[in-house]
Amino acid sequence: MERTLILFKPDAVQRRLAGTLLSRLENKGLKIVGLKMLKVSKELSAKHYAEHVSKPFYPLLEAFITSGPVIALVAEGPSAVAVVRGMMGPTNGAQAAPGTIRGDFGVSRQMNLMHGSDSVEAAKKEIDVYFRPEELVSYDSSLKDWVCAADEAK
Ligand code: RTP
Ligand code: MG
Repeated sequence: MERTLILFKPDAVQRRLAGTLLSRLENKGLKIVGLKMLKVSKELSAKHYAEHVSKPFYPLLEAFITSGPVIALVAEGPSAVAVVRGMMGPTNGAQAAPGTIRGDFGVSRQMNLMHGSDSVEAAKKEIDVYFRPEELVSYDSSLKDWVCAADEAK
């Protein structure tokens, strides 16, 4: 089992798409084990986007991600990191295929609705950045036997 860090970005919250995006994650069979609303500070933005801080587009990215509330989630499931990246599609909504979240709900490179960790290592770091251990809830889902076979749920 893998965990991944997801953000519904300020555009998704402002456009009232949070419920729709959460439904897509739930319908896929992912289990939500952490969820909160927060405003990203400049400090948190720099931590989250450390790999982009020195890039020319960073000031615009910082302004966007700190511009309104986000919803942070931790989702769990087999290959959760790659599954969520696949559901989101590529960065730019104008190039993302229909059927992906960015392809279905956006046309922008910046206003691209959702963040998902891009590797298992990044997921571990990002989960630690957004959630204290006691904020993550371990529980058994009664649907689990219908979501994947026992040998896939390790
Ligand atoms: P994210 O980290 O937000 O989930 O998005 P991503 O992996 O698809 O894209 P990434 O390359 O990590 O870029 C992070 C965010 O920076 C903005 N960006 N702007 N102007 C530009 O060339 C440019 N490139 C990236 C996007 O908002 C992207 O989501
Ligand atoms: Mg990224």
